[in-house]
Amino acid sequence: MADIAVTRERRDGETRVAATPETVRKLIAMGFALTVEAGAGLAASFPDADYEAAGAKLAPDAKTAVAGADIVFGVRGPAPETIGALKPGAIVAAALNPYVDRVTLDALAAGGATAFAMEFVPRITRAQAMDILSSQANLAGYRAVIEAAEAYGRAMPMMMTAAGTVAAAKVFVMGVGVAGLQAIATARRLGAVVTATDVRPATKEQVESLGAKFLAVEDEEFKNAQTAGGYAREMSAEYQAKQAALVSSHIAKQDIVITTALIPGRPAPKLVSAEQVASMRPGSVLVDLAVEQGGNVVGAQPGEKVVTEGGVMILGAPNLPGRIAADASALYARNLMAFAGLFLDKEGKLAPDYEDEILKAALVTQGGAVTHPNLKA
Ligand code: NAI
Repeated sequence: MADIAVTRERRDGETRVAATPETVRKLIAMGFALTVEAGAGLAASFPDADYEAAGAKLAPDAKTAVAGADIVFGVRGPAPETIGALKPGAIVAAALNPYVDRVTLDALAAGGATAFAMEFVPRITRAQAMDILSSQANLAGYRAVIEAAEAYGRAMPMMMTAAGTVAAAKVFVMGVGVAGLQAIATARRLGAVVTATDVRPATKEQVESLGAKFLAVEDEEFKNAQTAGGYAREMSAEYQAKQAALVSSHIAKQDIVITTALIPGRPAPKLVSAEQVASMRPGSVLVDLAVEQGGNVVGAQPGEKVVTEGGVMILGAPNLPGRIAADASALYARNLMAFAGLFLDKEGKLAPDYEDEILKAALVTQGGAVTHPNLKA
């Protein structure tokens, strides 16, 4: 029987947990044994007693939890002490942020771990249930609108009252991937008037089907902006200048701007300049979901609420899924549970097939070395 350990997350502000009582129960039914560090689920509202009732063994600390484990699940990469306590060859599956967090990657390699970066799981049909980027981005998009509504000193929906009419908020979503689509849907549910932009032509129809208006420079470059993998290309300086000119007059009339634009492996494109921020009226709110990748909004700071001289608020929003920790953990834990299924053979024994295209794509360290081709030093 293979042992899975789940520890309490130790990174600043991380409230999620990599297994829930529900996934513990199901993983046990799949043939795994579960050890959960005491308090691991508390910040996501899952008490220890529920893990125990689901069949997990509780461990007093992270070291004890991982000591005998064949597999360690995490939301983020494990802490150095935890890596030091791993059994040689133990499997680690977490969002390792491997391009940025080289220290953890190298420590996992040095510790002999077989580590999988969950963000590298390919977006193929068979892996949809394991797609942490989608499960978390969707909730981030939702939460971005909630954060914006909270900071905004006016209402989202139009209201006609005896004391007069309250105007609907105007919300502009820049970048319409998984997070942007959910931001549009959420802002629409709250009654805002929503517009959106993206460089991938496929998004136009998606935006319109959610009842929002699409705004973009639809030239030849735009028609070819989507890669075969479904992601955006980095656009030329000429395109970006045309895009900026088009959105400038639009941004000046918006109450809330939510930016989610990313290009895989590149810094986030700068989409909103300081002048455009200054053109918005006092009390307007920008939420920058790309802040950890360098930010889409000039002036956005990770984890900070920056208020400009003109009274415009810029929320640099890192880890929004962590602000909706119970649901984010529930979905993330199910992603990991589906991934764990790949470790078992037909008889239910721990025998990962390292030739499987999903495991191959996500494997980053093995046998004492960093093995992923994009990460080799
Ligand atoms: P992402 O997080 O990489 O980027 C967010 C959005 O920013 C994208 O829509 C991108 O086109 C946009 N963007 C980039 N540069 C921009 C610019 N200069 N101006 C405006 N927007 C810009 O994207 P995400 O959410 O990961 O989705 C990427 C694609 O993957 C989509 O086509 C999505 O439908 C697809 N997808 C496929 C899945 C599957 O097949 N299993 C699962 C999830 C997503």
